[in-house]
Amino acid sequence: MKKILVTGGSGFIGSHTIVDLIENGFEVISVDNNSRSNPRILEAVQKITGKAIKNYKVDLCNYDDTFAVFQENEDISGIIHFAAFKSVAESVEHPLMYFENNLLSLINLLKCVQEFGIPHFVFSSSCTVYGNADEIPVTELTPPKPAESPYGYTKQMGEQIINEFAKASTAKCILLRYFNPVGAHPSALIGELPVGKPENLVPAITQTAIGKIPKMQVWGTDYPTRDGSCIRDYIHVCDIAHAHTMALQYLIDKKSPKKCEVFNLGTGNGVSVLEAIKAFEKVSGVKLNYSIGPRRPGDVIAIYANNDLAKRQLGWQPKFSLEEMMSTAWKWEQRLKVDEKFYDGKFSALN
Ligand code: WQD
Repeated sequence: MKKILVTGGSGFIGSHTIVDLIENGFEVISVDNNSRSNPRILEAVQKITGKAIKNYKVDLCNYDDTFAVFQENEDISGIIHFAAFKSVAESVEHPLMYFENNLLSLINLLKCVQEFGIPHFVFSSSCTVYGNADEIPVTELTPPKPAESPYGYTKQMGEQIINEFAKASTAKCILLRYFNPVGAHPSALIGELPVGKPENLVPAITQTAIGKIPKMQVWGTDYPTRDGSCIRDYIHVCDIAHAHTMALQYLIDKKSPKKCEVFNLGTGNGVSVLEAIKAFEKVSGVKLNYSIGPRRPGDVIAIYANNDLAKRQLGWQPKFSLEEMMSTAWKWEQRLKVDEKFYDGKFSALN
């Protein structure tokens, strides 16, 4: 059974990917300092899979502690690197914290890949690297525009670091550019746990619908789009998760012709904010309480994926519909309300 090291294993996409990896026959260990994630998520992963996941509560910015994890696990076949800070707004306020955390952790990890001869490395990237693309849908060859935030720069720079590393290393790498991951595992045992007030659309919708937020804002309906609101490519987190398993298998089966490949992970469908809200209202039966606010700085007008390459090369096919994204997100929010105590409490930072 091949052992995979997942960083950020208690996070939204990390936890869903661990479930998918286990269901596809992999053994998994996690490295997560729980600075932005709740350790109890891995208990829920165990409930879904029947497997206890060992988590190393290590800050990847500490090289010695990271190195020690690899010393203890000599048989790692691959790494999937999710752990990073991901708030656009926070990155604008604290750029150095983002550059240090997201880049130093990546460099420490790659030094261990080198040191221990880890053969496969999959990186969590983002459509944010495209910025306000001139042409949509974007393909993997669409030239990246200047990022809209320090967070976006850490993804662009992360990709460049891995590209250059791959040229000089024996490791084979894959960069997965997610569009907008939403929804939750159908069991409603794991899902998104935003830290503080949610910035992202779908948790803002579900928290408004459940009454945690009195009213949400739609940030601008005066854009040059079909209904004036921004267009995005929302994709179910389980579809994203399965793409990671397929990407690893693709590398293990030695099907990758290059040292480093990039794949878009989107449905290929552009959905507006107002359309997303309507889809939620349809599946939940809840009339959402929102008002139209000003444009949010840094928002791109419209972006969605050309996902042909991932379909062709990886054999990947997104399965969940927009309605299922909304219904699983809603089921998770409703469960959180019932089990508030289970996930409650502060995120335990390392120090
Ligand atoms: C989507 C649309 C908002 C909240 C970001 C990162 C990306 C990834 C996903 C990490 C926009 C509108 C939102 C609200 C709203 N993050 N909105 N009211 O900005 O496309 O992508 O999150 O990996 O890298 O850039 O996602 O969900 O924040 O916003 O109107 O309360 O919903 O203005 O048009 P975004 P989002």
